[in-house]
Amino acid sequence: MDRNLALEFVRITETAALSCSRLIGSGDEKAADQAAVDSMRRAFDSVEMRGRVVIGEGERDEAPMLYIGEEVGRRSENDPEIDIALDPLEGTTICAVGGPGALSVIAVATKGNFLHAPDTYMDKVAAGPKAKGVISLSKTPEENIRAVAEVLNKKVNDTTAVVLNRPRHEELIAKIRNMGARVRLIDDGDISVALATAWDDTGIDILLGTGGAPEGVITAAAMKCLGGDFEGRLNFRNENEKERALKMGVTDLDKIYTRDELAQGDVMFIATGVTDGPLLKGVTMLPGEKAFTESIVMRSRTGTIRRIEATHVLEKKPIGMRP
Ligand code: FBP
Repeated sequence: MDRNLALEFVRITETAALSCSRLIGSGDEKAADQAAVDSMRRAFDSVEMRGRVVIGEGERDEAPMLYIGEEVGRRSENDPEIDIALDPLEGTTICAVGGPGALSVIAVATKGNFLHAPDTYMDKVAAGPKAKGVISLSKTPEENIRAVAEVLNKKVNDTTAVVLNRPRHEELIAKIRNMGARVRLIDDGDISVALATAWDDTGIDILLGTGGAPEGVITAAAMKCLGGDFEGRLNFRNENEKERALKMGVTDLDKIYTRDELAQGDVMFIATGVTDGPLLKGVTMLPGEKAFTESIVMRSRTGTIRRIEATHVLEKKPIGMRP
């Protein structure tokens, strides 16, 4: 995959983050999401690729833009064929309430290399590079936490598991507390905390629990670039979701997918912070109609992790790309 494309994708996540940042704290989740989707969609048009959205805003009948199967990019004959998993605003509620860790995010693979996950739930376990090969959904939460504590050379009661604060996680949270490990509960946004397990100084050691399946595929791509680990198992709410999964090519509904089965081959991961989080600063409006963004760009082939800080002069952006 052409590495020059990575910078093009940063421009896209920056554009989406800038657009929805106008709605941070507005209380309007839908408007924030729409702003991110509209500007991300527009920004794709100039990129020299034949892109196809494989993880997106939903099915064609429910999402007018960036729906699963939508073709994006300049689409000249010689442009590379690329599959795209995206979330223009990961953490719509976070953005609406001005909470921590909202992102605009894109993961990219060569054609056919992402699991086509339906918009259902996924059981997840994620941890950083030192825990590669020691975590698994076939282990209990306690076994996973002990394994991570051991490779990190930490006491169990100094080890922190992040879990989405949902009633479905009551038992999981009780198990973690009973073994003496720490629980950090988050209201939303499990991509950014999964990535945070790859940095020692975030204090986040493992992600456990059930969240969105599309976010799971994107997280797998990120963990591949970071050298960390991830496993996911689709968790269906009803028969209809199972049928959709079968139609999308899933053959074993109970399968535990490894990181590299969810995101095969060479992948790239690109994200721009919308609100401040464990990994990235959020969009900051500066005096004189300028704005600051921080983004991260990673490629699995080289393992390079780039952070890109940008100061945007908003009035100089092309009309239509201004937030
Ligand atoms: P949105 O960006 O679609 O609001 O998703 C946020 C999120 O918290 C994800 O990070 C997480 O995977 C999922 O929602 C959890 O789903 P639910 O809120 O239904 O428990």
